[in-house]
Amino acid sequence: MCLCYFICKNSEYFSVISDSLMNKDFYCTEQSKPQLTKLVNIFSCYYICNSYHFEIVFKEQQNLTSKDLHKNLEQKLAQFHEREDCILYASCFDANAGLFEVLLGPDDAVLSDELNHASIIDGIRLCRAKRLRYKHMDLNDLEIKLKEAQSSRMRLVVTDGVFSMDGDVAPLQGICDLAEQYGAMVFIDECHATGFLGSRGRGTDELLGVMDRVHIVNSTLGKALGGAAGGYTVGPKPLIDLLRQRSRPYLFSNSLPPPVVGCATKAVELLLASNEIAQSMTAKTMRFRNNMTKAGFTIAGSAHPICPVMLGDARLASVMADDMLKFGVYVIGFSYPVVPKGKARIRVQISAAHTDEDIDRCVDAFIQTGRKHGVVS
Ligand SMILES: Cc1ncc(COP(=O)(O)O)c(C=O)c1O
Repeated sequence: MCLCYFICKNSEYFSVISDSLMNKDFYCTEQSKPQLTKLVNIFSCYYICNSYHFEIVFKEQQNLTSKDLHKNLEQKLAQFHEREDCILYASCFDANAGLFEVLLGPDDAVLSDELNHASIIDGIRLCRAKRLRYKHMDLNDLEIKLKEAQSSRMRLVVTDGVFSMDGDVAPLQGICDLAEQYGAMVFIDECHATGFLGSRGRGTDELLGVMDRVHIVNSTLGKALGGAAGGYTVGPKPLIDLLRQRSRPYLFSNSLPPPVVGCATKAVELLLASNEIAQSMTAKTMRFRNNMTKAGFTIAGSAHPICPVMLGDARLASVMADDMLKFGVYVIGFSYPVVPKGKARIRVQISAAHTDEDIDRCVDAFIQTGRKHGVVS
């Protein structure tokens, strides 16, 4: 199940293949095989790398004949999140674009964290509710905004469960406390949590013990759950029924292709059957974070597999990322405008497919390139 990226030295193109596929000689011509060099990909969002799990690829074939593919996946996702019902979209961007306009009218208010994902921002733009932006993860500011929204008919607090640039986790307990105090509903975007956060991988709401206090969850199939594409909303059945009638990206766009549904279904089944994958993520994440911190690097966020190696300077982040490639480690530097000015970083993302050796190799490469550029001694 180890996903690796291999680079064909004589080619300008990357081939993304798994060890299992490699062993079966798929995608790999006899000519190119001897030239392949193993490269650890430690920046992608695949988390669990299920899309390349042989069992999933196999299952996908079986499922192609099923008529109830989409319904079955919706039921499994609702079960996984312990919510009443689920609706599938072509992406989580669509799920976010299609929710707020349906749920909220001009008499309602939406309270949104200022660093929420672009798709949430766009989705909120499409609705006619009063918009109140609260400071990032700031409960005092959220309370001020909730007080401001008391005359509205309905209030919805909207936050990413985990913020992808810093890997910081929303203070959901405090958010739920305030929402209950001021009569608001809570929505979370779980793209960077579903499948691996919490003891059973249910997400941020499980991690923080608020699964029964968060009303609506949107998430993606494009990261931990299959890694291909797709998104969904889970929540109360009347809401999901309403989305099926009114949500524009659902009504006016193609549904997910069956092979993608097949992959995602198997990924959810694996997660429902065992907590092993979810739990392995914590140990791997902490191995990377602890060893990097010991070496003198600053890693933002807390215990999340998104591990931003903070460097500050945009050029340094880019040059260091290039140098890491020389050690066989594929990472990408992020700088303004993706992150604020002066907060450039290399964003590492730990996946269940990484072995301890992969992680140690990455840390070692960081230490060597960090020394070269005077980041660590
Ligand atoms: C927090 C968050 N929400 C939504 C999305 C969109 O997900 P999708 O790729 O399924 O459209 C992303 C993807 O990067 C994300 O990080």
